[in-house]
Amino acid sequence: MLVYGFDYTLSDFIVERKLSSNYNIHINNCIPPTQDLNKTSQEVNMNKESENAPLISLQKASKSYSEGLTVHPVLNAIDADFARGECVALLGRSGSGKSTMLNVISGIDKLDSGKIIIDGIDITNLSEQKRTLFRRKNIGFVFQFFNLIPTLTVMENIMLPLELNGMNNRESATELLNEVGLFDRKNDYPDKLSGGEQQRIAIIRALVHDPLVILADEPTGNVDKETGQNILNIMDRLIRKRNKNLIMVTHSKEVAKFADRMLILEEGKLKKHSKEITW
Ligand SMILES: Nc1ncnc2c1ncn2[C@@H]1O[C@H](COP(=O)(O)OP(=O)(O)O)[C@@H](O)[C@H]1O
Ligand SMILES: [Mg+2]
Repeated sequence: MLVYGFDYTLSDFIVERKLSSNYNIHINNCIPPTQDLNKTSQEVNMNKESENAPLISLQKASKSYSEGLTVHPVLNAIDADFARGECVALLGRSGSGKSTMLNVISGIDKLDSGKIIIDGIDITNLSEQKRTLFRRKNIGFVFQFFNLIPTLTVMENIMLPLELNGMNNRESATELLNEVGLFDRKNDYPDKLSGGEQQRIAIIRALVHDPLVILADEPTGNVDKETGQNILNIMDRLIRKRNKNLIMVTHSKEVAKFADRMLILEEGKLKKHSKEITW
């Protein structure tokens, strides 16, 4: 399959509403596998303030959508910091803007006003191409519908973020496959795997290129309760072991057991949520 030629940055095959296929594959502008990353990482290092600074900082972040003459504010001057290594659950009713928030943090969508700073870089000021390169290197995505590429094997799916970043070491892919007990499925195509197995592969794919941040949009929304519990345990184990940041949109009560913090998005604002989920 033609993969090189396209930047289909994993985080870009997203957002149900933009796409019609079940797999939500969004082929972005043609940006070849990254040669430009050294520049990006130099910029990251130059701009990094200190290890104690929040990894992600939203400053008066605002985003609205217009329908005809009506403007719907979705994110309303949100201020929020996420510390390094923090695992945060993001709650909120359907349509409250949770996916929008993940999309602006990943740079897929642009803010109308305000800033998003990740690891010292103000991504709101980056060109679209630089945002894509930044995302490709620094963000891993996990989706509700897994979004594995059906024409690639398990191993090829996992290798894709490495290859797009100009890396070719199979070791981290192999190690992660062993960690989730799916090494012997490496040559299978996704349709041979159960939903839970596909999500385990998608979690590996989000982690394999050693990104700074994992963004997960309802990762247990399409599996049964027991499988969902299993997926959360695996995410908790793999992400904490690697000291990654996680922002996870979820409706799962189980998340209270492992999230460091729970936030709720209501009327365009982020609020603290108690550890008790009552629904
Ligand atoms: N690209 C878009 N164009 C128009 N409206 C959008 C777009 N993306 C999201 N919205 C609207 O923004 C609101 C928040 O959507 P979303 O972030 O998907 O919510 P959630 O993930 O919490 O269900 C919804 O009212 C949705 O219809
Ligand atoms: Mg959503």
